[in-house]
Amino acid sequence: MNKREFLKKAGLLGLAGLSQIPLSGKTGRGKLPGDPDSPDFWQEIRNGYDLPDDFVNLENGYYCVQPRYIREKYEQHIREVNRLGARYMRTVQFENKKAVAAKLAAAAGVPADELIITRNTTEALDMVIAGFPWRKGDEAVMAVHDYGAMLDMFKQVARRHGIVNRMVTVPLHPKTDEEIVDVYARAITKRTKLLMVSHMINITGQILPVRKIADMARSRGVQVMVDGAHAFAHFRFSVADLNCDYYACSLHKWLSTPLGAGFLWMRKEHIPKIWPLFGEEGIAPDNIARLNHTGTHPPHTDLAIADALDYYKQMGAERKENRLRALHGRLRSQVEMINHAKINTPADLSRHCAIINIGIPGMAPSLMAQRLFDEFKIYTVAIDNNGVQGCRITPNVFNTFEEMDRLAAAIGKIHP
Ligand SMILES: Cc1ncc(COP(=O)(O)O)c(C=O)c1O
Repeated sequence: MNKREFLKKAGLLGLAGLSQIPLSGKTGRGKLPGDPDSPDFWQEIRNGYDLPDDFVNLENGYYCVQPRYIREKYEQHIREVNRLGARYMRTVQFENKKAVAAKLAAAAGVPADELIITRNTTEALDMVIAGFPWRKGDEAVMAVHDYGAMLDMFKQVARRHGIVNRMVTVPLHPKTDEEIVDVYARAITKRTKLLMVSHMINITGQILPVRKIADMARSRGVQVMVDGAHAFAHFRFSVADLNCDYYACSLHKWLSTPLGAGFLWMRKEHIPKIWPLFGEEGIAPDNIARLNHTGTHPPHTDLAIADALDYYKQMGAERKENRLRALHGRLRSQVEMINHAKINTPADLSRHCAIINIGIPGMAPSLMAQRLFDEFKIYTVAIDNNGVQGCRITPNVFNTFEEMDRLAAAIGKIHP
């Protein structure tokens, strides 16, 4: 049996070119509803999930659970890989991973030879931060609202390599993009080598004007690394359009892959300069595979990324984004009328998508989250740091307008 026949038999060759992907139905088989803009479309989507019936999940910011379609494909990959065992690992494992990475690169709008699959954003960005060719006295810029794991790695390299970290504070309710660009611009000095910026700030859901920040920083010779953990497959953009140097995201967030999937993209010219996380010799310096040594790793997760991309494509990126914005808007318009509530996410459509952070001044966010759950069976997450006090509310495509109304009514009933 040649390799192609083997792959076919293993049921894994189809991963690159699936056509009609069923999104719903009890077995995961079935067709898309004929009219995607009808109200039934979102009910069909919801029917394609196995959801708890004793609480409403509005904390999809941690990760987005898989619809049945993706989960079943994943289970199928687990079974197949397990059936083939070492033969799978020794023959087609890396070829398949490369094919999935290429599909991912196409969706992200970047060349396939500049992107690798990682376990998550943390692994991807920490590899860049830790592996950057630092020299004593170099400087890096980042924000207090950035994700803790990356801030910790910057602190570690500061201790290890003698670099200086300059922290900025992004305004919660900016009036213009320039106001934000300015905050970053003021932190740059002649010694600045790397600037990290979140595409979407995780605690508030604020989208930052990454392209403008990158244009400004790169024109001053500073490389720009974007934390896109929350952005990819949430709202539409192309990584190539951002004019950054490095971009990473977690696919188990908005792409709904199995847990433990992300990607790292970087400009080709940077590949030879970054030290890998795990040693990898014998690969050409400009081959991104040198940054992708992982040790033995669950290959079925990588395979399911292709299925999640198919699902996303079939749903339609624009349709998904519009639905998420509509859910956000439905909640926001009601919360704006509640005197004792405060919204910590900008109202401007270019500065948010699904996520909204809502606080009740005078009430600890942990108590607010607790009461929403205990009294109304709505699951959210409490945020209480860097000037943000509130619950982060993250609807996903399976959430309904009724659930948004139920949350708004609950917030109206909780007084400090
Ligand atoms: C902005 C941001 N960056 C990075 C991460 C880390 O993601 P992961 O744990 O998937 O690496 C998160 C997780 O929530 C995040 O919100």
